[in-house]
Amino acid sequence: MRAVVYSNYGPPSVLHLTELTRPVPKPHEVLIRVRASTVTAGGCWVRQGAFPDSRWLTFFLRLFFGITRPRRPVLGFEFSGVVEAVGKAVTRFSTGDSVYGTTTGLQQGAYAEYVCIPESWRLGVMALKPAELTFGESAALPVGGMTAFQILQKADIQQGHQVLVYGASGSVGTYAVQLAAYFGGRVTAACSQANMALVQSIGADTVSDYAQLDITRWAGQFDVVFDAVGKLPPSVGKRLVKKGGHFLTVKSVTDEKIAYLHALEAIIAEGRLKPVIDRTYELEDIVNAHTYVDLGHKKGNVVITVAQP
Ligand SMILES: NC(=O)c1ccc[n+]([C@@H]2O[C@H](COP(=O)([O-])OP(=O)(O)OC[C@H]3O[C@@H](n4cnc5c(N)ncnc54)[C@H](OP(=O)(O)O)[C@@H]3O)[C@@H](O)[C@H]2O)c1
Repeated sequence: MRAVVYSNYGPPSVLHLTELTRPVPKPHEVLIRVRASTVTAGGCWVRQGAFPDSRWLTFFLRLFFGITRPRRPVLGFEFSGVVEAVGKAVTRFSTGDSVYGTTTGLQQGAYAEYVCIPESWRLGVMALKPAELTFGESAALPVGGMTAFQILQKADIQQGHQVLVYGASGSVGTYAVQLAAYFGGRVTAACSQANMALVQSIGADTVSDYAQLDITRWAGQFDVVFDAVGKLPPSVGKRLVKKGGHFLTVKSVTDEKIAYLHALEAIIAEGRLKPVIDRTYELEDIVNAHTYVDLGHKKGNVVITVAQP
């Protein structure tokens, strides 16, 4: 099968296309013909083997993914695709099902024509693909969607709450804007001039250019402040929150639960949530896709088309 591998940490050019043996599902696994994957901000840091500005996080990343060189040669933390075969103990999925999910904690990622996924495991998730979404959109849902959902849940947003989403144009940000509006919040979004129309179109009531912002004028204005890009110093963010309100940051420990995916699917079915797709690249073009995401300016999500039907 065609797959993208890397054997050293580094710039996008460490990624290259090769042929690997197609995996065989164990009894509790399904074999998936991958239709789409994504390039996430986190995936680029795993490729680099380093987190920006944090030696501690880099230490844990290396502990998990390989100290001197990557232990898992195939990246791609999100996937969508079609079940090609099922292990004999699998009960939740059948051949031909369209599915999506994450490869968190697994030996192989989704930059490959085929991947084996357990029908359930502790670190990641897999579910039937929402009918409303394309394969590309479904692949772009789990990481950003579950992150925004579970962090916003901590604030229990009520009808009319004033919610600031800082860094509203990235993957987590575009999900956070839509979800905060869905929960009943009045959403103020901070993003660059170039992304203001996009952020307004997905449900922000007010949009401000982060480059022009006099943030002090917002002191004590918000019930909830969510830094969705991890660039607002907490000391500043906390000053914007009303007494009894919440300061939330994407730099929080999160987990993956099938319940989060199902909650997102229900909101999608109501027509109130849709993944924002910035660009789509072919698997062969993976170096350009990672180069683009490395710049830190993607709008929503970047999709990789792995296999056509
Ligand atoms: N806790 C978790 O489980 C979890 C999960 C997913 C992601 N994350 C983390 O969350 C962060 C965001 O991830 P992501 O995938 O949403 O990132 P992303 O899509 O790569 O974010 C890019 C967006 O951020 C905007 N941006 C960049 N600098 C900004 C600034 N100073 N102020 C406001 N907006 C700015 C960019 O807009 P412009 O082009 O206009 O600058 C761009 O649209 C990353 O640090 C990621 O590692 C954490």
